[in-house]
Amino acid sequence: MKHLIDLNDFTPEEWDGIIHLAGEIMDNPHIYQSSCRGKIMGTLFYEPSTRTQMSFQSAMLRLGGGIIGFDNPTASSIVKGESLKDTVKTVSGYSDIMVMRHPVAGSVKAAALTSDCPIINAGDGGHLHPTQTLTDMLTLQKEKGNLTGLKIGVCGDLKYGRTVHSLVKALSCYEGNSFVFISTNELQMPSYITALLKDWSKADSIEEVIGELDVLYMTRIQRERFRDQDEYEKQVSRYILDMPKLDKAKKELIIMHPLPRLNEIDIEVDADPRALYFRQANYGMYVRMALILIILNYDMNTPILLKGKAYDAVKCENLKCILQSEKHLLHSFIEKDGILTCEYCEGRRNL
Ligand code: NCD
Repeated sequence: MKHLIDLNDFTPEEWDGIIHLAGEIMDNPHIYQSSCRGKIMGTLFYEPSTRTQMSFQSAMLRLGGGIIGFDNPTASSIVKGESLKDTVKTVSGYSDIMVMRHPVAGSVKAAALTSDCPIINAGDGGHLHPTQTLTDMLTLQKEKGNLTGLKIGVCGDLKYGRTVHSLVKALSCYEGNSFVFISTNELQMPSYITALLKDWSKADSIEEVIGELDVLYMTRIQRERFRDQDEYEKQVSRYILDMPKLDKAKKELIIMHPLPRLNEIDIEVDADPRALYFRQANYGMYVRMALILIILNYDMNTPILLKGKAYDAVKCENLKCILQSEKHLLHSFIEKDGILTCEYCEGRRNL
């Protein structure tokens, strides 16, 4: 049984295998149309979703499988007060594979601890979104021809944007990639990501760096993650990609966005051949078909999910971590140089 909580649960060779299989499925969909006959995917969406949820559903249906689940937790026993643990235990008994999105960081890892079937992280709060990253990697492979030697500008909400956390983590494993983080001081990339990088820099504006970039990855400011709505208002509309800014960009630049888009990309840009975000959303379905097939055919013992040490008296300082609400969970941290990293949300604190 294999879960996908963080892309690090698979090796870069395995990521390449998923991307390669996605390409094969795109070219020959009919070969795979009954590959999941008799299998059921459970989808637990505790947060809104259009692309991730529907591309997973479409992926499973195109593989000949079936789907159960909810996209609105208020229509399930969660309104009666059922815990995440009990819901996951139950639905995993009805499913062969589960996909879960939840507003709290670390929740999918917590769910995996009780699940009886493999579970895929479809976004855990502002933490990670590994299947969006597989989508982005397939897009880069198809549109740029490789995943190496790229200068990637990442713009917008780098603090709460889970898609860019997973993306930067993964692309830093390929040779020769460098990153430029374009954000306000308030919404910078978290240190648990930058700590992994060799070649990165910061910029205040799109204009000052766009000419050097091979990829520009735009993101939405994540309104739902702000505690103070006035703070959110100060951040919106700070970075808008429009046609005048694109004048300075390379002809081969590609513009990506996980979507949904608010106003951070002017709609005039949609007609530019460098705008790839809708094609990117389409790639997501094929990569999820490949992922479902690979996970369902994975012949392995359940991996050890918590590798650190339990510190009963220590609390995670991230108020948006699953340790705050699911009381039964082990307070498991990894210790290095006097710093404890929470095994659910990757939040750091002193020992
Ligand atoms: C993203 C998400 O949910 O994190 N959307 C997606 O899955 N394609 C990005 C976002 O909501 O801004």
